[in-house]
Amino acid sequence: MSFVIIPYSIGFLYNLLLKRIIAVEDTFKKTLFLFLAVEDLETLTKKIDQKLRTLTRHEHVHLTDRGNSAIFLAMHIAKKMNPKADILIPDQGGWFSYKGYPQFFGFNIVEVKTDYGIIDLKDLKRKAKTGSCFIFSSFAGYFAEQPLRKIKTICKKAGCLMIEDASGAIGDTKLCNGNYSDIIVGSFGKWKPVECGYGGWISVKSKEYFDVAQEALSITKVHPQFYREIGEALKNNKFKKLLALQNTVKQELKDFEVLHRDSRGLNVVVKFDPRVLAYCIEKKYPYVLCPSYIRVNERAVSIELKRLSF
Ligand SMILES: Cc1ncc(COP(=O)(O)O)c(C=O)c1O
Repeated sequence: MSFVIIPYSIGFLYNLLLKRIIAVEDTFKKTLFLFLAVEDLETLTKKIDQKLRTLTRHEHVHLTDRGNSAIFLAMHIAKKMNPKADILIPDQGGWFSYKGYPQFFGFNIVEVKTDYGIIDLKDLKRKAKTGSCFIFSSFAGYFAEQPLRKIKTICKKAGCLMIEDASGAIGDTKLCNGNYSDIIVGSFGKWKPVECGYGGWISVKSKEYFDVAQEALSITKVHPQFYREIGEALKNNKFKKLLALQNTVKQELKDFEVLHRDSRGLNVVVKFDPRVLAYCIEKKYPYVLCPSYIRVNERAVSIELKRLSF
């Protein structure tokens, strides 16, 4: 009898011990994995923040859940830092929230004249003195480059903060430029050159700007997991490919009235002609019809190259 029981007991004890060892090993592995993952995320967060500093040439950056939150934050900062009555926005080539959000801060909206989205510097000069801030897109309607340095000279002289919406220009060495802009905002949402499906950022030239908006900044803080996704999206920036494609399309449309033909941009905007629609259909290019505040106040076709995936 004992011949049977002894081997059985040894086998049982052996199995029990093995299970314990495996369980301890598992716990150890899980702890190690968690430790490494947290470490990794911290390193990644620092890396992305640094990348955004380089891209914006601003020392202080903050990621948001979307571009609109960044725009809201920028207006909040402008109100606190420079409490004047007006907010200046372009009369076309802007974004919807430039018109929608100022009411939350009691700003009076003043539209600056443009030449199909490109800022009329004389009109800006006339209006900037009473402006708390001027918000505009680096590329008017994603299709024509703004004269950033000249805008800066006027805003600085008038004491009006310059807020650049660089949703379409992140990665450009000339635009998205914290040497000129006091605040830069942008979106990483759908159809943007840096396309993550969601997310945005705000960057500022002085720490004081973030100090006055600490509570609002904490409300808009993103989950650290976002850093993993945005890292990939930044690597796949479509910006340069879109600049090149814009050139090709403008050449192909040499017999049409392309607005700001000589200006760099991502989209191509052409005065309305049914043949342009046929061209878009043939090439499978998405397009939207104007007039539209976010492109031009003109009967035109905006060829939305920025929506393409490469
Ligand atoms: C120029 C510009 N600014 C801001 C936004 C808002 O970004 P989001 O949709 O991430 O809030 C958009 C969105 O398309 C945009 O095109």
